Amino acid sequence: MTRVSAFVVTELEPPDFERVRELARLSGSGFDPGAELERAWAKIWVARRVAGSTPLGFVLVWRAADELHVIDVAVEPESRRLGVARLLLQRVMAEGRATGAAVVLLEVRQSNEAALALYGALGFIRTSVRRAYYSDNGEDAIMMRLDLAIGDPP
Ligand SMILES: CC(C)(COP(=O)(O)OP(=O)(O)OC[C@H]1O[C@@H](n2cnc3c(N)ncnc32)[C@H](O)[C@@H]1OP(=O)(O)O)[C@@H](O)C(=O)NCCC(=O)NCCS
Repeated sequence: MTRVSAFVVTELEPPDFERVRELARLSGSGFDPGAELERAWAKIWVARRVAGSTPLGFVLVWRAADELHVIDVAVEPESRRLGVARLLLQRVMAEGRATGAAVVLLEVRQSNEAALALYGALGFIRTSVRRAYYSDNGEDAIMMRLDLAIGDPP
């Protein structure tokens, strides 16, 4: 069955920097999209309902050799459980495959059930736990990976 997505995913452009800054603030990471995109190894994609509308979510990824690192992914609260993050991560995986990446890596707070379920649904596996990784509350991080060579194509 071919699923037709209700969302449009594109690379982030300057007119949407402020919106992504706001989404990042809401999700607690608060990075600066303009500063991120000055790094040659960083990429940000955004998802919208239709071309030109306000982004509902984003994913920030760093590339290091043949590894992709998901640094942050977030969707505005009122647009969650609609498949936006899944679509953004599928774009990351497709881009990785197209450009010779072997693996997608990430870490997630052990209490973040939504994110853990999302990554699990996409085929990520837990590789290790980093104790007290998050300095704000001493929470553990779950380290996860997806091998692109064996993961299902999106
Ligand atoms: C985690 C987050 C990005 C998920 O975004 P989303 O667009 O709602 O996720 P999707 O709709 O694409 O979900 C895809 C699948 O992930 C799983 N999932 C997502 N959110 C879930 C939740 N709250 N509870 C259980 N499973 C969930 C489900 O399997 C879901 O598929 P289904 O809806 O068909 O059951 C979103 O909740 C968010 O922005 N949270 C705050 C920021 C954050 O924690 N980011 C992760 C940093 S590591």
